[in-house]
Amino acid sequence: LSSQHSAADKGLKDYYKDYFPVGVAVGPQSLQGEEAALIKAQFNSVTPENAMKMGPIHPEENRYFWRDADAIVSFAQANQLRVRGHNLLWHEQTPKWLFKDAQGKQVSKEVLLKRLHDHIFTVVKRYKGKIYAWDVVNEAIADNPQEFLRNSEWLQICGPEFIAKAFEYAHEADPDAVLFYNDYNTERPEKRERVYKLLKQLVDAKVPIHAVGLQGHWSLQEPTEPELRAAIERYASLGLKVQITELDVSIYPWEKERRAKRPGESDAYTPELEQKQAEQYRMFFRVFRDYRKVLTGVTFWNVSDRYSWLDTYPVAGRKNYPLLFDQQLKPKKAFQAVVSF
Ligand code: XIL
Repeated sequence: LSSQHSAADKGLKDYYKDYFPVGVAVGPQSLQGEEAALIKAQFNSVTPENAMKMGPIHPEENRYFWRDADAIVSFAQANQLRVRGHNLLWHEQTPKWLFKDAQGKQVSKEVLLKRLHDHIFTVVKRYKGKIYAWDVVNEAIADNPQEFLRNSEWLQICGPEFIAKAFEYAHEADPDAVLFYNDYNTERPEKRERVYKLLKQLVDAKVPIHAVGLQGHWSLQEPTEPELRAAIERYASLGLKVQITELDVSIYPWEKERRAKRPGESDAYTPELEQKQAEQYRMFFRVFRDYRKVLTGVTFWNVSDRYSWLDTYPVAGRKNYPLLFDQQLKPKKAFQAVVSF
C-alpha cells in the first residue's frame, strides 16, 4: 500500500483517537465536494473560520446573519463533528454599529455591555447543545510588551471589566459550554507571562473560564520545544485545560508588521523547506501527545495548502504552504511526520 492510500483509509482523528479531537477551520465553501470529503475523512471537530465572528453574524444592531454559521453547524451535526464556536468578543471583525449610537457618538460602558450581553445570549443560546466550546475573548493582550491589555475600543469604553463580563454572559447563556480565552504568540516568554497574569486574575476572581486556546500560528523558527512545553505547563498550573486552536506552520518567519512583499522575494516551497516543516510538525505533535491530560484538542487553521489565510496575511502576493495537505489535497511529508509514532 502506498502511504497515500493508507492515509486515506485512516484519518488524523483515527491516529489521535486516544489523545484528543483533531479539528479544522472551515467556511461554507468547504462543505461540498472533495474538501468536504477530506474534512469528513480526517477530522472530528470544526471551527467556523469567520462565520460566527460578530461582524459577519451580527452586521446591524437588529439583524443577525445566520446562514453560514447554521450551514456549518448542520454539516457538523450530520457528520458527527464537534464544533468550537469562534468567537464572541474580539477587536477585529466587529460590526460598525457596535461602538456608536444613532448620532455616531461613542456609546457608554452601560450601553456597550448591554449590547455585548444581548449578542452573547442570542448567539450562544441559538447553538446551545450543538457547540461544545466557545472562544469567549480573543486576543485581549497588547502586542507591545510594555502594555498589558490591548488598547481596543472595548478597553477604552469599558475598562478591563469587559473580559469577565463576556465570560459571565456566556456561562449564563450555556452553563455546559467550555469557555476559552484565545490568543497568539502565547509561547513567547514575555507574552506568556502577560497572558498568565490575565488568566490568573480571572481564575482568582472566580470568573467562569475553563480553558486557554493557544492559536498556534507558528513557523519553522518558533516556538522552540522548551518554549512550547513551558507555556502548556504554565497555563495548566492554573487548573485550565489547553487547546491548540488555529494551528499552521508558516514557511516564513513571523513578521506581523510587514505591509508589502519584497521585490524579487521568492515564495518557492523547496524540498528543504518541506522537510524542515515536517520535522517542526513532528516535534509539535510529540509534545501534544505528552500533554494529553490537559490538551483537549488540536485544530488546524484551514484544510489544505490550496487555501490558507496566510496567503494574504500579513502581506498579499506570496503563497504560503502551512498545512498537512497539499494543493491537490494529498497528505504532505508533514502529515506522515504527525501520524508516525
Ligand atoms: C482570520 C481568517 O482566517 C481570515 O479569513 C480573516 O480574513 C481574518 O481572520 N486569529 C484569529 C482568527 O483568531 O479568527 C483569524 O482568522 C486568524 C488570526
